[in-house]
Amino acid sequence: MYNVEIIGTGSYVPEHRVSNDDLAKFVDTSDQWIRERTGIIERRISLEENTTELAVKAAQRALEDAHIAPEEIDLLIVATVTPDYFFPSTACLIQQRIGAVKAVSFDISAACTGFIFGLSIAGQFLKTGMYRTALVLGAEVFSKIIDWEDRNTCVLFADGAGAAVLRRGAEGIISELIRSDGSGAGHLECPAVPLQNKFSACSTEKRPSYTLMNGREVFKFAVRIIPEYIEKVLTNTGYTLEDIKYIIPHQANTRIVAAAAKKLGVDQAKFYVNIQYYGNTSGASIPLALDEMSRQGLLQKGDLFIIVGFGAGLTYGAQLIRWTKG
Ligand code: ACO
Repeated sequence: MYNVEIIGTGSYVPEHRVSNDDLAKFVDTSDQWIRERTGIIERRISLEENTTELAVKAAQRALEDAHIAPEEIDLLIVATVTPDYFFPSTACLIQQRIGAVKAVSFDISAACTGFIFGLSIAGQFLKTGMYRTALVLGAEVFSKIIDWEDRNTCVLFADGAGAAVLRRGAEGIISELIRSDGSGAGHLECPAVPLQNKFSACSTEKRPSYTLMNGREVFKFAVRIIPEYIEKVLTNTGYTLEDIKYIIPHQANTRIVAAAAKKLGVDQAKFYVNIQYYGNTSGASIPLALDEMSRQGLLQKGDLFIIVGFGAGLTYGAQLIRWTKG
């Protein structure tokens, strides 16, 4: 088996900023409530660019950062629950736009855990030697599947894209675990088109494609999963939490992070949080944070960090990673 490392990252968010006060103009909420309950101050909402456009920009930045040409990509995986089309896949559209002519390209659906699932899937192909280079993206225009009159959800979610280039090389991904539990599917969902055809009696069913969420259940699930999976990916590695420089959680809520840190018994400062400025960008949140950290010089060669995610499905997982970039 080969080792796999991250050799480049990139991200992109739409320019348009929406503050909490902007939201309070059309739903019964306040800046104070949103800040105190979620940590969010503002978010980026796309006015014109769809998921593919955001992802293409993140992908191009990641390729530039990795110093590789698009033709070198063997595998292109996009984690998204907000594709532009049912088909073709967002990955195929990106492949064409960036010129990744040799890549096999496909989308995966694991909501906010999508990037972690994508990294893990890509890693398996690289570890076996089947492919050498993979581009993994998390990209969402979540604003298009939000009921903007539902204050329970519209204050949380936002748009963005993040990317990482993976390559066979040094030992970057040290340990990983991904899981799902369909029994919690109803806690967080967005219905697709209803069953309708010329022969079906169900054709009058009307279900809008909006996000529905049982916030309290998701909160409890996240606070349980984050510490559990951080501990699981450390097991049998010889490393302990003290060796970990940063934990990069899916950016859903600062209170979730605070509760998870307390449960783990670690300083909350070990968790990297940028939800204040971007809201919850679902599958994009972890690669967006990782790219921001890389560009700010927060990660030095040899540093260990853990990414940990949870989302609709329910899906969850974590990776223990060594930063191998110089
Ligand atoms: N503004 C003002 N009041 C609000 C708002 C709002 N935006 N939203 C809810 N409220 C009200 C509720 O109606 C409720 O009022 P009531 O007491 O009169 O009934 C009160 O505030 C408290 O509501 P709770 O739901 O108990 O609020 P809570 O403190 O649990 O915070 C929140 C809600 C922020 C949604 C929290 O439960 C949470 O963060 N859950 C996790 C959500 C999450 O992370 N989702 C993404 C998962 S990842 C993915 O796959 C997409």
